[in-house]
Amino acid sequence: MKGLILAAGLGTRLRPITSLRPKPTISVANRPLIHYALDDLIDAGVTDIGIVVSYDTIDHLKEAVEGYRGANYTFVLQAPPKGLAHAVEVSRDFLADDSFVMYLGDNLFEQGIGAFIDAFDPAAGVNAVMALIRVDDPRAFGVAVVEDGRITRLVEKPPDPPSDLAVAGVYVFDKTVHDAIDGLEPGAKGEYQITDAIARMIERGLVVAPVEVTGWWKDTGTADDILDANRLELLSMARNVEGTVEESRIVGDVVVQAGATVRRSTVFGPAIIGRGAVVEDSYVGPFTSLGAGSRLSNAEIEYAVVGADSVIRDVRARIHASLIGENVVIEGASGRPDAHRLVVGDQSQIDLHQ
Ligand code: G1P
Repeated sequence: MKGLILAAGLGTRLRPITSLRPKPTISVANRPLIHYALDDLIDAGVTDIGIVVSYDTIDHLKEAVEGYRGANYTFVLQAPPKGLAHAVEVSRDFLADDSFVMYLGDNLFEQGIGAFIDAFDPAAGVNAVMALIRVDDPRAFGVAVVEDGRITRLVEKPPDPPSDLAVAGVYVFDKTVHDAIDGLEPGAKGEYQITDAIARMIERGLVVAPVEVTGWWKDTGTADDILDANRLELLSMARNVEGTVEESRIVGDVVVQAGATVRRSTVFGPAIIGRGAVVEDSYVGPFTSLGAGSRLSNAEIEYAVVGADSVIRDVRARIHASLIGENVVIEGASGRPDAHRLVVGDQSQIDLHQ
């Protein structure tokens, strides 16, 4: 069984964070998103892993992935990215005729992907497995209809969903998927959709088995999704203080990574302070990740993700529900004029408290 992680997307809803780095390399609980996908694959015994990238994403992904846990990585260029079925098509040489797990690089599964792989039983005539999850509003997802233990209908982002079963981002396929992709017509936005290819497999009488996701599942399209994913991942971390703590209050599941320093501050977990970070005269509230080498001084922050090497200093109002990139400087200023001075990249969002 091979693995295929799709990581060619541009992550437009996460700009400007994704203007400089692809979404799967954004940190959640101080680890790049793609490491969670790699862990799930490797823990399920899949170590021959293809990663589909675009010109815009290849360098960052190579840096985040190469050498990780000793698996074999093959980078496949999808340029330009034209949908999930297209990603499989361009990976054909890597996949050959082998069965494979396809994992969307911006998805997170609390319980890993073992159950989906276990349900893929070629001896029982199963050609594909899809991860499904019940959601209140499935209109933003692929939607499946299940009858007698098989998926009998599949539609992509329907305005009028035929069920509440959304398609989560892990699929297992045998080689019959390639025939279903051959000659596929593009769907919405000109993309070749994997949902349409699987619908063709169903029409041709092939067996597509559903497996409902247990535990939480997260598709990280927006800044709010990243914050929520960070919250969920932090909830599974236990207290571990390896760094230096002086004259501070550290409450609950707080990780202070090696080389980090917390001084004259209060930290309420769950939270993580990254390697080499310095927190001084500050408050760090629940669901906060401070990246490696970041510095927080005379400031308050909660429910936030701060990228590596960013500096937050002398800020009077508490910063919350915030996604802050790497190498960012946020500094309070006093005196006249009583004004904000901003140097902000394209498509940033700043909400100033009055
Ligand atoms: C893709 C799939 C969709 C699935 C979703 C899960 O959509 O096309 O069927 O429900 O991933 O994350 P996208 O998020 O790429 O728009």
